[in-house]
Amino acid sequence: MKKQDARIKIITISDRAFSGEREDLSGPAIKSYLEEKGWNISSYIVIDDDKKRIMRELCYACDDERMDLVLTTGGTGFAQRDVTPEATLQIADRLCPGIAEAIRAESLKITKHAMLSRAVSVMRKQTLIINLPGSPKACREGLDVVIDALEHAIGIMRGEKLDK
Ligand code: MTE
Repeated sequence: MKKQDARIKIITISDRAFSGEREDLSGPAIKSYLEEKGWNISSYIVIDDDKKRIMRELCYACDDERMDLVLTTGGTGFAQRDVTPEATLQIADRLCPGIAEAIRAESLKITKHAMLSRAVSVMRKQTLIINLPGSPKACREGLDVVIDALEHAIGIMRGEKLDK
């Protein structure tokens, strides 16, 4: 697999960005981060913190759009409406805890508030879903942790023979 062939979707999950109360900076931050590293973004949407809606959009991205990777941003914290991890777990086939563990462990070296992110990483069919926190800074820091493993992960999920 060449990384520019990977199908990647960004889903910003935020009541305030969805209503237009504030501009979404995190989705575009993820997009430019990945594009600078040679990846292409196939799709980007903004939705509200509604659990059923999040589950529906994740299923659509995995089952219909057949994305290789879905990156969510937002809704991983402690606020009443933060339900991104629960929605993600509910539609998951398999768990990929190592990714979320690595992001949290590295992020804790940057800020103690990293322990307040409940983000999870899972697989549904042949799609990897990674939750990132809501701020653009946290998104970039999370991507710094996983970026070098993504090509290998997607290759394995696609069932490609790898010599690494
Ligand atoms: N992780 C990194 N790497 N950098 C950060 O600045 N912010 C934390 C945490 N994870 C942060 C981070 C904060 S302040 C919160 S409240 C949680 O992510 C949850 O964020 P969310 O509710 O926007 O998803």
